Amino acid sequence: MNINDCYNFEDFRKLARKKLPSPIFNYIDGGADDEITLRRNSEAFDSCDLVPNILNNVGEPDLSTTIFGKKIDMPIFLSPTAMQRLYHYDGDKASARAAEKFGTFYSMSSMANTTMEEISNVSSGPKLFQLYVHKDKSITDDLIERSKRSGFDAMCLTVDTLVAGNRERDHRTGFTTPPKLTLQSLISFAIHPQWVFNYLTHPKFELANVSKKTDKGTNIAKSVIDYVNEQYDPTMNWKDAEYIAKKWDGPFALKGVMSVEDAKRAIDIGCTAIMISNHGGRQLDGSRSPFDQVKAISDAVGEKLEIILDGGVRRGTHVLKALSAGAKACSFGRAFLFSLGAGGQHGVERLLENMHKEIRRNMILMGCKSVKDLDASKIIFRK
Ligand code: FNR
Ligand code: LAC
Repeated sequence: MNINDCYNFEDFRKLARKKLPSPIFNYIDGGADDEITLRRNSEAFDSCDLVPNILNNVGEPDLSTTIFGKKIDMPIFLSPTAMQRLYHYDGDKASARAAEKFGTFYSMSSMANTTMEEISNVSSGPKLFQLYVHKDKSITDDLIERSKRSGFDAMCLTVDTLVAGNRERDHRTGFTTPPKLTLQSLISFAIHPQWVFNYLTHPKFELANVSKKTDKGTNIAKSVIDYVNEQYDPTMNWKDAEYIAKKWDGPFALKGVMSVEDAKRAIDIGCTAIMISNHGGRQLDGSRSPFDQVKAISDAVGEKLEIILDGGVRRGTHVLKALSAGAKACSFGRAFLFSLGAGGQHGVERLLENMHKEIRRNMILMGCKSVKDLDASKIIFRK
């Protein structure tokens, strides 16, 4: 199988599984505890049905929407995700270029292996920076100032990772940043010589945006769970979030909002958007799915905040359902990381092309001329 045979999430996942050493594949694929939330995130989309309208003279539907003050060509973008250099040697550069080509947002994680300055050199497309609040407060100010200087359009603050979720697959495989050979992982690296070759022959792995401030994760190998628990500030609170929103002073979202109450509070601290998310089921297992919460949150704050949903998005129809239930756009993590692992920039382009086709085709079948037509009248929840 090659990348041009990949039509859906499972195809990309299978190809990535072949190409990546098992600790890396399982880091992407896994979730917390019993992975109930991980599974539920996608299953939630099956609990409702789309209701099409007929004979609507649709012609060519308009998939574009505006988020974070930028018009994007389709209502889905790349979620911020850590350490993309492990999935393909081109890492974030490949993702950013592919996103630009399809006119949508690329997002950079605080744990990226590429600096924001490098990314602003390779892409003039829309860019979001994802902030983690470190115990060392000087890192926050540094990241905000550099995001501004590098021309990032928006910022999100992740609020669901005060401590790391219990990812048992990572314990078993011995996954660390930077990767290190362990007894458990030796065979898996040995049977992926192409990956090892690319890893060794491309620029050094580092947590590029913070490596000047901490050696951990760059020169000192750490499990991601230990890294998060050591570096991130578990006392983060609404005052800190408000400080960041003010200092950034541009389009700003909290990522990881799940309750109506918190969504309302986000308005008060100056958010322009919220990202309804449970971190793809990697943090609190047993957490409700974003899709199950989107309608209630949208009914409460949809007039005042842009609502973005992530978690379990695999198909164009998932995006249609999320928009009909009140989201303005969706983002996805694993779907694009598997496509990156399976085929680098070309892989991500293939995925975005597939998603564009799916959303376009299904909007026509729904009788929708524009994403605005995807409203509450288009969806019925089963009892
Ligand atoms: C993530 N996610 C994430 N979120 C974040 O705010 N900062 C980060 O560094 C990361 N890193 C990360 C790595 C990997 C391998 C995955 C799979 C996810 C969470 C991500 O932004 C998003 O919330 C989820 O991926 C959405 O769920 P799906 O699309 O993967 O089901
Ligand atoms: C993860 C962290 C790094 O989900 O956000 O792995």
